[in-house]
Amino acid sequence: MYRTHTCGELRPNSINNTVTLAGWVQTVRKFGAITFVDLRDRYGITQLVLAESLNEQLDKTPLGREYVLQATGTVRERTNKNANLPTGEVEIAVSDFKILNKSATPPFTIQDDTDGGDDLRMKYRYLDLRRNAVKKNIELRYAVNRATREYLHQNGFMDIETPFLIKSTPEGARDFVVPSRMNAGQFYALPQSPQTFKQLLMVSGYDRYFQITKCFRDEDLRADRQPEFTQIDCEMSFVEQDDILNMFEGLVKYIFKHVKNIDYNQAVERMTYDDALWNYGNDKPDIRFDMKILNLKKPHHVLSQKQDSRQLIEDAGFGVFDNAETVLAIAIPAAADYTRKQMDELTDWVKRPQIGMQGMVNIKCNADGSVKSSVDKFYSEEKLKAIVAAADAKPGDLILVLAGKEELTRKATSTLRLEMAERMGLRKPDVFKMLWVVDFPLFEFALEDQDGGGAGRWVARHHPFTSPKPEEIDTMINHGPKVDDLEKYLEHPYARIKANAYDLVLNGNEIGGGSIRIFQRELQEKMFAALGLDQHEQKEKFGFLLGAFEYGAPPHGGLAFGFDRLCAILGGSESIRDFIAFPKNNAGRDVMLDAPGEIADKQYKELHIKPAQA
Ligand code: AMO
Repeated sequence: MYRTHTCGELRPNSINNTVTLAGWVQTVRKFGAITFVDLRDRYGITQLVLAESLNEQLDKTPLGREYVLQATGTVRERTNKNANLPTGEVEIAVSDFKILNKSATPPFTIQDDTDGGDDLRMKYRYLDLRRNAVKKNIELRYAVNRATREYLHQNGFMDIETPFLIKSTPEGARDFVVPSRMNAGQFYALPQSPQTFKQLLMVSGYDRYFQITKCFRDEDLRADRQPEFTQIDCEMSFVEQDDILNMFEGLVKYIFKHVKNIDYNQAVERMTYDDALWNYGNDKPDIRFDMKILNLKKPHHVLSQKQDSRQLIEDAGFGVFDNAETVLAIAIPAAADYTRKQMDELTDWVKRPQIGMQGMVNIKCNADGSVKSSVDKFYSEEKLKAIVAAADAKPGDLILVLAGKEELTRKATSTLRLEMAERMGLRKPDVFKMLWVVDFPLFEFALEDQDGGGAGRWVARHHPFTSPKPEEIDTMINHGPKVDDLEKYLEHPYARIKANAYDLVLNGNEIGGGSIRIFQRELQEKMFAALGLDQHEQKEKFGFLLGAFEYGAPPHGGLAFGFDRLCAILGGSESIRDFIAFPKNNAGRDVMLDAPGEIADKQYKELHIKPAQA
């Protein structure tokens, strides 16, 4: 037996017992003739005391950091107790020890605040994983995995595996492909998600399916994207949208309770996509704080008339606003005392190329109820006060106003809102707020070619299997997809069709998304046609699914969570890499394996492919 206890286990009730521990040497300290060793494993750290009698052995084979050590001795009370360590009340008076393996000096220190940079830690990820900070994330991931399985099992879901070597599943990214040795010149695609398989499982009658599985997408990477990532993928039959939303907000609440011990008792808000866009500037609003966006000027393309379209700003000789497509404002609480210097810095911030604004206007709400603005010249105090009232601003608040092209200005205001909240400490990583965004548009218009499919066409906003709202099916049946004037694509009836699609947003991050599916062959064919697939392409790409819909496909729907993202946010981070044992870097490389790499000439031949010509 290598060990009787782990390094995180011993407490005063074991005093006087003889124990054997095995682990890694965290530190070695010598005090006079006595040597102190902190021994570490997955479970914790225990202090070993090596008395003078062991010095001869120590001199022969000195201990170094990360050596693998086995030590036997008696548990005794520690004189200098360490309240920061769970084992800090005891130590082991070692009678016997053995070096199980030596270690080279690690390239960085294995401790919470390490001296290793990102690249170095990725190269030696197996050492980085020994660090407490990383280990905690991996433990959290496992806890989320377990809680997910428990909840889904309790609710009758079955875990069914689906293949990786498949044909393309369109989720809007490029496919990773695998050449087939046995089928010359042919390729598999790795799944961007198990979407079509889970739908086929519904046709097969497995009415509650789930899988925690890898998905592969060749797309530009960001902090919250990896080329291979994990989904909690789910599908249900005989359900409507509400059944799905209830079931899966239940899952997240269960995870909160069992992983974080948080009782998330509040109702989960359901916000339409239009409202999210109008009030927060994006489709994944962070609702931990308010600061809603106020629309001061009715934009040209108003897709939803539901919004307040009062014209709060009329032409007043101020060119920036007069000529702008849209003018948006947000009220920043208690920021009216911003100095000139702070305002200049903020204005420079919105002028950065990433944000792209020309400038920013402000309205200060003074404590005495008066207002002061950088555009006083053009707007009467009465007008400005109307804006202050509409923005729900209080004395002491600062209103920031951005103007310009609609989409650019909306995005900029949304980014500014998040930035201001960040500066004010309102984006607390340990406060959790989720919401459903519902009623997404069914289509998006690709003005430019996004995925090699050509420009000037409709693409599925979620994916091609998403069902339109029942009342919108006629619009789809009665109108063709053709857009005559690209400038006016928003006037085409397809631009207004809403889908039975929903996203779950947690703290401003899209952690999951799904939809009620099309389950009738005719409607699916109509959808494919709307996306520009002719009969031949439909048959070639999705013949299996259209065929399956002929054999009694039940009504069904589902969703998938981004498992890495969910873990990261629960862990208080937005970088998913920290929550994946062996992640890739931003260039899609595994720097530890040095992958991707070259293959041998022989392999090219076997796979019937040729290296690209230089
Ligand atoms: P979707 O494409 O929205 O839906 O993906 C579901 C969730 O997966 C996460 N996600 C990612 N996480 C890390 N890296 C990536 N590259 C990445 N891409 C997506 C997001 C997202 O919300 N088949 C549908 C689901 C369905 O309709 O049931 C799908 O894959 O958190």
